[in-house]
Amino acid sequence: MQEISDELKRDNKTIGFVPTMGYIHEGHLSLVDISKRNTDITIASLFVNPIQFGPREDYKEYPRDIDKDKRLLGRRGCSILFYPDVDDMYGKFFRTEVFVRDLSKRLCGMTRRAHFKGVTTVVAKLFNIIKPNITVFGQKDAQQAIIIKRMVEDLNYNMEIITGPIIREKDGLAKSSRNVYLSKNERKDAIVIYSSLKEAEQMIEKGERKVSRILRRMRKIISSNKNVRIDYIKAVETNELKPISEIRGEVLIAIACHFRKVRLIDNIIVKM
Ligand code: PAJ
Repeated sequence: MQEISDELKRDNKTIGFVPTMGYIHEGHLSLVDISKRNTDITIASLFVNPIQFGPREDYKEYPRDIDKDKRLLGRRGCSILFYPDVDDMYGKFFRTEVFVRDLSKRLCGMTRRAHFKGVTTVVAKLFNIIKPNITVFGQKDAQQAIIIKRMVEDLNYNMEIITGPIIREKDGLAKSSRNVYLSKNERKDAIVIYSSLKEAEQMIEKGERKVSRILRRMRKIISSNKNVRIDYIKAVETNELKPISEIRGEVLIAIACHFRKVRLIDNIIVKM
């Protein structure tokens, strides 16, 4: 892969990169579109990264369909798909980790303690393998995109990170590979996540600036459904992900909740 990338660069081609864990959906494909608009060659990676899953999380069950993924990515104009196996990425003597301090412990990092260390470690490796000029991440995983941007700046990666908007189902549920885990009823219930974010947006539009009032309202909407367990609902500024009490500047309002065993996340970013 490194040789192919070097060759592309010798030919003066710019490389766009879309890292994924597969089970490709329209959210991933929208990132391929963005990459294609901004670079000559788009490379995607497909690797279900074991070190970003906790011991009780869904690494083993994570949905996989490589043939379909290849088809979808190819049809959308992705030129190269890099799909290493676990032994390629983590040899027996693998010991090096990349960790972005503080940011990795907030929001999803509170309950998924080692998650972002696994993400930054694998993404650092993928950057060194693919050598992209531009890498595209989704706002769906807003914290991930913010952490990666920090890593790119801190470690002097010579590349640009672009964040693409969240792609949603017709009823507003954010597209996710994990949505297949939802039962029919859970799938219906899951729209409360988006409803609560929409409500927050409307409150802010109408002039509400007090975060406590917005979050209380959101909590109420989500808790109206008895099958949900809220992991967190928070409003934070987008540099350090620190909680705020007033809506001012760029604010990330993020939710994580469980429908039985399925953990779903969603967010909006508001700019004041
Ligand atoms: P994965 O969950 O497969 O997501 C790959 C990329 O697709 C991420 O940048 C994610 O934010 C984006 N994405 C997912 N759903 C989206 C949606 N509905 N709209 C827009 N973008 C969406 O994120 C990962 O994989 C991994 O952590 C990875 C970065 C590949 C490292 O292992």
